Amino acid sequence: MADIKTIDDANFAGKRVLVRVDFNAPVGDDGAVSDDTRLRAALPTINKLIGDGARVILTSHRGRPAGTGYEEPFSLGPIARRLQELLDRDIVLSSELVGPVARETVDAMENGDVVLLENIRFDAREKKNDPEFARELADLADAYVNDAFGTAHRAHASTAGVAEFLPSYAGYLMEREVATLTGMLDEPKRPFVAILGGSKVSDKIKVIDALLDKADTLIIGGGMCFTFLLAQGKSVGTSLKEEDWVERAAAMTEKARERGVSLLLPVDVVAADAFANDARTEIVSVDDMPADMMGLDIGPETAELYAEAIAMAKSVFWNGPMGVFEMPAFEAGTKRVAEAVAANEAADTIIGGGDSVAAVNQFDLADQMTFISTGGGASMELVQGEALPGVEALR
Ligand code: 3PG
Repeated sequence: MADIKTIDDANFAGKRVLVRVDFNAPVGDDGAVSDDTRLRAALPTINKLIGDGARVILTSHRGRPAGTGYEEPFSLGPIARRLQELLDRDIVLSSELVGPVARETVDAMENGDVVLLENIRFDAREKKNDPEFARELADLADAYVNDAFGTAHRAHASTAGVAEFLPSYAGYLMEREVATLTGMLDEPKRPFVAILGGSKVSDKIKVIDALLDKADTLIIGGGMCFTFLLAQGKSVGTSLKEEDWVERAAAMTEKARERGVSLLLPVDVVAADAFANDARTEIVSVDDMPADMMGLDIGPETAELYAEAIAMAKSVFWNGPMGVFEMPAFEAGTKRVAEAVAANEAADTIIGGGDSVAAVNQFDLADQMTFISTGGGASMELVQGEALPGVEALR
């Protein structure tokens, strides 16, 4: 990030600053934000700008609306209400994203005021990275700050295009996310143990490939382990599997061997006769998987093997659960791994977004991790070695 200006490089007193945040946060049936992690993560940047005496114009998406105008289920109303509480100040929610009415709202701001624009994806031009829309957004402001790491893998008008038209800076969250994840990849403390879970090899193949170049140990769990087990010639019953990816899984296994990376796969699993919390279950060796059962979690012996490897690590990167942790019957493997990561106080422990963050929160272990990324897709793309358009636009 050395070639990118950050908000510490400027004083924004009296300036109108357009700040792209990622407030794509879940909202419960009661209409309130049910997990405000992403809002809290943006507070240091917002508070620095308020402290400077800037006029802070926040912009974010939430969900994936059609792009045909206002849609209540995707409104940022609940976000504005929660942010108001967190900042302890009034926030104006502007229903207009650009144009004369939005300009009027901004013109009425005083130093230190905060305006939140409605869901930027209500305008289809956002996702198209339409230059005219980006210029109209830029017209609202004197400077642009991108603090939306979670959306940095999208080349949209508010995440990338607008940087063409304004002096641009990285916010604190963006800076910290990129520095932490690239630091882990460039100079990991060794042994470096990477843990990957989740359902599909096809979703994670690039991450697996990239981590095999960096890690000392690669632990595989979740549904995708069955495609790896198939590649070893095991039977996996009715477990989730991707037959078309068995060859790639075999190639990754071979790559691990060539590079001297210790690739850990389950030795036992929790097998179930149905995808249900009240299914009949059995702990079975991966050599004896019943033909009519599916593996829904790693077994206890595997969990202990994984915990031992994690205990030896000096740095840990974790993305993806070990089993169907949302169901109590299949949470034990993910819980054991989360506990092992949390217990390793000597290691830098980085949780790479998505479901593993939900798991760490579910087991109340979040505050024992070194760093929890706010970006699921963005952190995966960064780990894969791909350039993030939201970061590149700031260069
Ligand atoms: C996310 O939650 O991963 C980001 O906010 C990006 O959302 P998107 O996948 O809808 O672009």
